[in-house]
Amino acid sequence: MNLILLGAPGAGKGTQAELLTKQLSIPAISTGNMLREAMANGSDLGQKVKKFMDEGSLVPDDVILDIVAERVAQADCTDGYILDGMPRTLPQAEALDSRNIKIDHVISIEVDDALIENRMTGRRVCSKCGASYHVIANPPKAEGICDQCQSSLMIRKDDTPDTVRHRLQVYHQQTEVLKDYYAKCGKLRIIDGNQSIEDANRKILEAIGAKV
Ligand code: AP5
Ligand code: MG
Repeated sequence: MNLILLGAPGAGKGTQAELLTKQLSIPAISTGNMLREAMANGSDLGQKVKKFMDEGSLVPDDVILDIVAERVAQADCTDGYILDGMPRTLPQAEALDSRNIKIDHVISIEVDDALIENRMTGRRVCSKCGASYHVIANPPKAEGICDQCQSSLMIRKDDTPDTVRHRLQVYHQQTEVLKDYYAKCGKLRIIDGNQSIEDANRKILEAIGAKV
């Protein structure tokens, strides 16, 4: 099963991807995490994307398409995968189609813009594996330490209020149009993200007809 998680910054894509990857036994592919890892390693890719990521603008489509094409060709993706945060533009969605990358369900997690800032100021992410926590809604078992890999948690550089506002604007201008694109082919599943992580997760599993 190939899934896309669509939604504004802070909607809960990464959080749900972490749950779904365990429940469905398929890998989660987060373009945001891949790009942050490249920046942390100081690779050519990391240097190329730093300016875009820091200001909360989208990285050019061709860069994204190259890294996603390479990732989905790997052996662990044979039985399916979850795309977290890709596609983000119409050309990215069209490129998936033209490369015959079949998508079964597109899950749009919808959260009121007014809630996003609170989610972002409380977010902590793992410096190594990228897992996402919230100081109140989803705290780690030990403060400041990732449950999954025991690395230290940090605040994302693009989680400042100004950058979050810009990312929300980018979402409404360039990404939200994808809902129409996928509704037309009957693949869009809308999930209310203004509910607990567990309830949103149950609704997603129902929407894709998964029994876990
Ligand atoms: P990316 O890393 O994808 O960031 P984003 O889309 O802005 O989304 P976030 O990761 O901020 O939010 P999320 O939906 O994953 O929320 P989370 O689960 O963490 O992209 C970053 C940058 O990379 C982009 O700006 C761009 O530069 C570049 N990029 C990436 N992909 C690209 C592409 N395809 N094309 C071009 N550029 C690209 O949850 C947020 C917080 O809320 C957490 O603290 C969490 O614990 C909490 N939370 C989650 N669910 C709930 C709930 N139900 N109730 C209460 N709290 C909750
Ligand atoms: Mg994320």
